[in-house]
Amino acid sequence: MTELGMLKGYGEEDSTDRTPGMSLRKMATLALKTWPFMRPMLLHLSILALGMVGGGFMGFISAFVGVDLMTNKVLLGQKLQPLQATVLFVGDEYVTTNIEQPVEQEPASKTHGKGDIKGIGKSEETLPDVEPELTQEQRKVVRNRLLIWTVIGGVLGALGWTIVPYYVLWVWQSINQNLRVAMVERAEHLSLRYHSGSRVGDAIFRVYQDSAQILNLLQHGIMYPLMALYGILIGLAFVFAFDPLFAAIVIAVGIPMVWVTVVFTPRLRRRSLRNREANSDLTSGLQEAFSAIKVVKANRAESQIFERFDRDSKRALDAAYFLRLDMVVLSTIVGMTGALTIIGSEYIMVTWVIAERETFLGAWAVAFLGFAVWNLGGFQIARDRVGGLMGGTNWLVRIWSTMQDLFIALDRAFYLLDLKPEVVDPDDPKPFPAPIREVQWQDVQFSYQEDQPVLTGIDLQAAAGTVTAIVGTTGTGKSTLMSLLLRLYDVNRGQVMINDVDVKDLTIEDLRSNISIALQKNVLFADTVANNIAYATTDASRADIEEAARIACADEFVQEMVKGYDTELGERGGKLSAGQRQRLTIARAVVRDTPILILDEPTASLDARTEHQVLANLAEWGREKIIFVITHRLSTVRNADQIAFMKDGQIVETGNHDELMQIEDGQYRSFVVAETGIGEAQ
Ligand SMILES: Nc1ncnc2c1ncn2[C@@H]1O[C@H](COP(=O)(O)OP(=O)(O)OP(=O)(O)O)[C@@H](O)[C@H]1O
Ligand SMILES: [Mg+2]
Repeated sequence: MTELGMLKGYGEEDSTDRTPGMSLRKMATLALKTWPFMRPMLLHLSILALGMVGGGFMGFISAFVGVDLMTNKVLLGQKLQPLQATVLFVGDEYVTTNIEQPVEQEPASKTHGKGDIKGIGKSEETLPDVEPELTQEQRKVVRNRLLIWTVIGGVLGALGWTIVPYYVLWVWQSINQNLRVAMVERAEHLSLRYHSGSRVGDAIFRVYQDSAQILNLLQHGIMYPLMALYGILIGLAFVFAFDPLFAAIVIAVGIPMVWVTVVFTPRLRRRSLRNREANSDLTSGLQEAFSAIKVVKANRAESQIFERFDRDSKRALDAAYFLRLDMVVLSTIVGMTGALTIIGSEYIMVTWVIAERETFLGAWAVAFLGFAVWNLGGFQIARDRVGGLMGGTNWLVRIWSTMQDLFIALDRAFYLLDLKPEVVDPDDPKPFPAPIREVQWQDVQFSYQEDQPVLTGIDLQAAAGTVTAIVGTTGTGKSTLMSLLLRLYDVNRGQVMINDVDVKDLTIEDLRSNISIALQKNVLFADTVANNIAYATTDASRADIEEAARIACADEFVQEMVKGYDTELGERGGKLSAGQRQRLTIARAVVRDTPILILDEPTASLDARTEHQVLANLAEWGREKIIFVITHRLSTVRNADQIAFMKDGQIVETGNHDELMQIEDGQYRSFVVAETGIGEAQ
């Protein structure tokens, strides 16, 4: 299964038979990959882990001691263990006297002399050995002290449960934030080849939804399994202490549970993948529909868009439904088995209590269980442990099924993160040459897809203080030529040089911060005019912004707006005309004041006079700079210092207007003739 294949699958039909290749090893690898994002939060994670283990342990111990105190001491009136007395701040008169008595000396029978381990229904024969029980008053005292502790514990617990979730949330979100930021950073550094080959919505879904599963990794991948295992192991230990045969039966019940889980696992993975793909498609569809809302409305395609959304949405719903259904079915099977086991074991245990059967560890158990034969307290503890054991197993299975979804999601998230950017910084970068003298393409060859050359044998030179016009039919590679200078892509052959430095020897950051570009397809943001102009700079003053706007002939219309430069533009500059947007884009490029400026048809929507003015301003402003203008406008081209005429991915003619017009049968000449008619060509 290739990931790119995953991107395209529309869910249902084609992904039905695909089981994602998710081995235990891959799961472990994915889990390890999350480490760099967790490491910054290590301290807080440790605090959380310690708090949870400590709190859990305390809770467990106090519940255990509490049950014993309430049942055996308060209700049945047995005397306390010394430690219990200390904790409850009561005197020695509450404490059992024969605690030190060696257990071995007593036969392990009904008369083992342990008054405090006497169970319900203990016969009168034991009475002679039994020390006096707690008086009614003493039992009340124990009850009250126990209540006080319960209240204190309750208050502390409640406080913990209120504060801890916020802390947990903060830690979790910080980790997720680390991952998301890394993903967005990576996505932005990925070559445009990736972005033009995949849907934006898919990347959004990976960053927003898939990445969020890193939070669940800690919970479902580590914490919950440990907690569940803890419950299972403690349960097993207790059950074993009570009766090994009993433990063997309980373990035997576990085998079919594991088997069912194993059978269900590939199904769960498949459904999880389909679910995520369907939801990613839904996001992509929505993103595309909203970003093209004008086109949609203009073409009256609303109902089509709605139908598509409706269909995608149903698919996503179905996929989510079937995933949950499988999870529930699995959990139900395992849960039912567990419940039957609990009922069966209760039946057996009650029988043993009635028979006062001795526990497996017998008298040895007194030390840590408090009783050696089955009695009410023993029954309660054993029942709780068997419940914990079965609950833990059921929980573990549910965690496992959630983990399948989790790892499918992490796989999708890390796919984005693991993509290698095609354009990378050099190991030993050179500084950007200053002052700039020239830009040069030397024998450059480039193709987007193998075997489909877009540019071949390009040689072009542009000197500082000149304007170079790039002219040619649509699709001939003009924008591509400029992308190579910006290193949006790297050349397949040849070199792009600035002075005598190959652009590959500069850092991408350094290179791009020295080149401004204004595109025809401009991108404005829902922000003020001033902020839109200053978008790509950090240090532009209001005066710089207004000066740039003046050069781009935007000053005038901005001044006319009610709030001037503080006017809020709508989403993607929706409140402006195409020509106004273009002028703001040019101002944005100008304000950066870089040595190289590229205008890729940003003047197409301007009227001839405004365009002329903009270019005159630019030429005046950029006297030291190298300016490239890609345009079809003859009036602009005519004024350029140099014209590069492109055809079929090659520069076929270079020179100024007059020189090129001299060439009989010249390509440029015939372009001019076609544009203007023969009469005006000269
Ligand atoms: N991301 C891409 N992936 C694959 N092919 C591409 C990509 N971008 C452009 N092309 C192809 O490369 C060729 C040159 O495209 P380019 O955008 O450089 O042309 P152009 O001269 O700027 O055209 P126009 O005047 O229409 O802007 C075209 O055939 C185009 O289909
Ligand atoms: Mg172009």
